[in-house]
Formats: sequence, structure tokens, C-alpha cells
Amino acid sequence: MIKTQIILPIIGVIIMLSLLSCKHNPQEDIAPDLNNNYTNDSVSFQTEILPLLVGNCAMTGCHDATTAAEGVVLNNYNNVINTGKVSAFDPNNSELYAVLLETDPDKRMPRPPTPPLNQEQIALIVKWINQGARNTNIIRCDTNTFNFGAVQTIVNNSCMGCHGNSNPQGGINLSNYSYIKQETQSGKLLGSINHLLGISPMPKGGNKIEACKITIIQKWANAGYLNN
Ligand code: HEC
Repeated sequence: MIKTQIILPIIGVIIMLSLLSCKHNPQEDIAPDLNNNYTNDSVSFQTEILPLLVGNCAMTGCHDATTAAEGVVLNNYNNVINTGKVSAFDPNNSELYAVLLETDPDKRMPRPPTPPLNQEQIALIVKWINQGARNTNIIRCDTNTFNFGAVQTIVNNSCMGCHGNSNPQGGINLSNYSYIKQETQSGKLLGSINHLLGISPMPKGGNKIEACKITIIQKWANAGYLNN
């Protein structure tokens, strides 16, 4: 009798704990592949491919977790692979690549008014698929280069799908030097990527951008927002 009185609450606690740990976080993802057999030529999914997908495809109304247009969610590695539209080592059998090249605007991704990915961005996606579409996480950003060119590359890759010239979301246009300078000077841009309280965390629906990229933008700001 005494045993049951002790054991039952213990079982209850165990069940409660396991239920709590099952709570699903929409950002949940499998751990990056840290096999470390990378070369200088390896594409990094987490730091190079995912920002492109979140920045250009995972916006509200498209492939974010809430809208999931055509069941496709492009906000983390698992979801990208689970679309079934990436065939490792075989870009020509990967719909994720084919839709980037579509000339018909009704089929092309990202859909207008978001502009198509540029040649360099598409080539990087092809290279990632050719290398096996792995969940790689390689950090190779250099905080010693903090000119506007470096800032613009970060913004182009992580923000432009939602903050381009046509219909910029939240009224924040990041398509050129003076707009980027203006939003940085106001404190909004850095506040949003640092996830400061009271400012919408950016990139919306994605992970925080790498600390090293935030440092580059901060150093550029500290040096006087030069157009260099
Ligand atoms: C997937 C779409 C998306 C991406 C990618 C994105 N944003 Fe946003 N951003 C939004 C939306 C939508 C808003 C309007 C506020 C909201 O809905 O949270 C917004 C608002 C903002 C604001 C205003 C925040 C405020 O509280 O006043 C800033 C600054 C901003 N974004 C910067 C960025 C930067 C910098 C990046 C890239 C690192 C980025 N965004 C990437 C969708 C996006």
C-alpha cells in the first residue's frame, strides 16, 4: 500500500516531464553534420544556404511554417529535406533547383514581386546539392572586412526577399546604401538582428544570423556607415 502511494506520484511526474519535453518548437532541427570532413570548397548549409531560403522563400504567404504553401516549409534543414524536392548529388532531379530557373513567372520561385535569385546564389545551391545536400555548418566570415560591401552581402542574402524595393515588409526597405544606413543609424537594424526587446526579431521566422555577421555590421556602423 505504502509502495503504491510513493510510486504513483513518481510515475505521474515522469509522465509530466516527458510530455513537457515533447513540446515542439517550430525551429527544432536536427543537429548540424559535424563530421568535419570539410574542405575550403564545402558549402555550408546553415550559414550560406539556409539564410537564402529563409530570406527569399520563408516569408508570410509563402514557405514559412504558418503558410506552408503546397506543404513546403523552408525554415530549417529537416523541413527543406522533407519537401522531397532535394535529391542529394543530383541537382537536375531536384525541384528546388528547377523552380529557381523557371522563366514562367507563375511557376518561378521566388514568386514575383520578389526578384529571382542571382546567378551566384543559384550556383551555390547547385554546389550544395552536388556535394550531397548535407546539414553543414561552417563559419567562415571574417570580421576584419567590415566595409559596406560586406554588409550588403549579408543583407542581400538574409533580408532582401522581404525587404526589397517592391513591397518591403514592415515598411523597411534595405535595397540600397542610403536605406541600409538609415535603418542602421536609427538602431532598428542592429536591434532586430540582435533580438533586442521591443523590436521585431529578424530574420523573421529564421534563426539569428551568425554572431560574426552581426559584428561586421556593428563595426561598419561604429566606423561611420561609410559607403565603401
Ligand atoms: C521572411 C521575411 C523577412 C526576412 C527574411 C527579414 N524580415 Fe525584417 N521584417 C519582416 C516583417 C514581416 C516585418 C514587420 C514586423 C513583423 O511582422 O515582425 C519586418 C520588420 C523589420 C524591421 C523593423 C522592426 C521593428 O520592430 O521596427 C527591421 C529593422 C527589419 N525587419 C530588418 C531585417 C533585417 C536586417 C533582416 C535580415 C537580417 C530581415 N529583416 C529579414 C520580414 C522579414
